[in-house]
Amino acid sequence: MFWVNKAHAGNTFMPPQASNFAESVDTLYGFLYYSSLISCILVIGGLVYFAFKYKRKTASDKTAYIPHNALLEFLWSFIPFVIFLVVFAWGWKIFYDMRSAPKDALEIHVVGQKWNWDFVYKSGRKTSSEFTIPINTPIKLIMGSRDVLHSFFVPSFRVKQDVIPGRYTSLWFTATKEGNFNVFCTEYCGTGHSTMLAKVKVVSKAAYESWLENNPYKGLTLSEVGQKVYAGRCIACHNVTNVKKIGPGFAGLWGSERKLTDGSTVVADEAYIRESILNPNAKKSVGYEEAVMTSFQGQVSEEELTGVIEYLKTLK
Ligand code: CUA
Repeated sequence: MFWVNKAHAGNTFMPPQASNFAESVDTLYGFLYYSSLISCILVIGGLVYFAFKYKRKTASDKTAYIPHNALLEFLWSFIPFVIFLVVFAWGWKIFYDMRSAPKDALEIHVVGQKWNWDFVYKSGRKTSSEFTIPINTPIKLIMGSRDVLHSFFVPSFRVKQDVIPGRYTSLWFTATKEGNFNVFCTEYCGTGHSTMLAKVKVVSKAAYESWLENNPYKGLTLSEVGQKVYAGRCIACHNVTNVKKIGPGFAGLWGSERKLTDGSTVVADEAYIRESILNPNAKKSVGYEEAVMTSFQGQVSEEELTGVIEYLKTLK
């Protein structure tokens, strides 16, 4: 197709073809484009031509009596009918291929939330706003949403799928070109919709393997992940002992009763700790009236958050 950029760079009507589906989608698109163009020329051209040809030339000109023409009427219905059936069957075939992921596909979990994309690999490797995949390998994305409807779209791969809260949807493709390709959210999901972007990095199989090896949390249990997160982000304000630093010491915190400034008490369970990390000022404990801690909302991954909770459970 003339508008397709075979060479990856440049400024063309369509983005580069970088997956197994790209060419077949573009070919069908091309067929629709050209058949619409030809139909348009035939109909509008015929209309203009006949308007001039049968224009009333004298005041006494009268339209001849025209009975119906069975053959003509059959053809102008039947030919479009055949074209539509061809488009349907052709589109169905591509759709069917897109819905039938190979069994050995590399599975990656994708979660959309306002307003970024998170990716989780089987190994536990987690990335945000970008993910890395090997070239010429079937990839299956298993997708969900934490909040509202989003839509995962990789134009260069010609694949798109809504992600829906409370439901899993999936998408598969084989990347056929190395390089970085854009991911867009294509379902309006609020203020940050237009910035809900990600990058997919297609690399050689060897480069993918070594990238996967670099997983900072590879082989760690959840509480070990939490320990790492603690060492990086919590240690400045919290001791692992029960001694108060800026915030409370972590030892013995899990499951304890916290006295709140409003006089009530709350048990430090998963929900309380999670809230205290994401929304630290929702419940203020006696002795910690000053709102020192800032929210870690969006700063820690779900895995890191769960890791911290699991780590706290181990601190007796
Ligand atoms: Cu997410 Cu638009």
